[in-house]
Amino acid sequence: MNDRMHDIVMTVNGEEVRERVDARTTLVDFLREALALTGSHVGCEHGVCGACTVRLNGAIVRGCLLLAVQCDGARIDTIEGVSDAGEIADLQQAFAERNALQCGFCTPGMLLTAQDLLKSGTLPSRDTIRAHISGNYCRCTGYHAIVDAIEAVAHDRNRRTG
Ligand code: FES
Ligand code: FES
Repeated sequence: MNDRMHDIVMTVNGEEVRERVDARTTLVDFLREALALTGSHVGCEHGVCGACTVRLNGAIVRGCLLLAVQCDGARIDTIEGVSDAGEIADLQQAFAERNALQCGFCTPGMLLTAQDLLKSGTLPSRDTIRAHISGNYCRCTGYHAIVDAIEAVAHDRNRRTG
């Protein structure tokens, strides 16, 4: 057997996946190429832009900085799974309503990062929102509308949970 190839099993968006991967394949390339989950984007490929953001066992990570083999046995959630579950429907709507996306390249990573901040139920300041998304680059919007959208959802959720 080619010793660069490894059998891995992981749970992706709630479904068990078994694949044979090259040891050098990054997590984001694996998700995009082997599983056709192309919502996670590849920008800088060295951990700077956040386009490749996914969840690993519930925590957001850079898919370009992890190898797929390192995620053997892990639970991975991508923008497709989180979106299909309805978990970020309010964020998606707020982004659309407030023009917080233009080309959309950064948007999946931005949404997962925003949800990571908001899922604790706290009411973050605009500075806290900016700090939390500071690892996610957007070349289009100038960020203001993104901060507006996240802030609006934070207030909405806070009102609903009282
Ligand atoms: S592609 Fe992973 S951080 Fe830019
Ligand atoms: S909407 Fe184009 S990079 Fe953010």
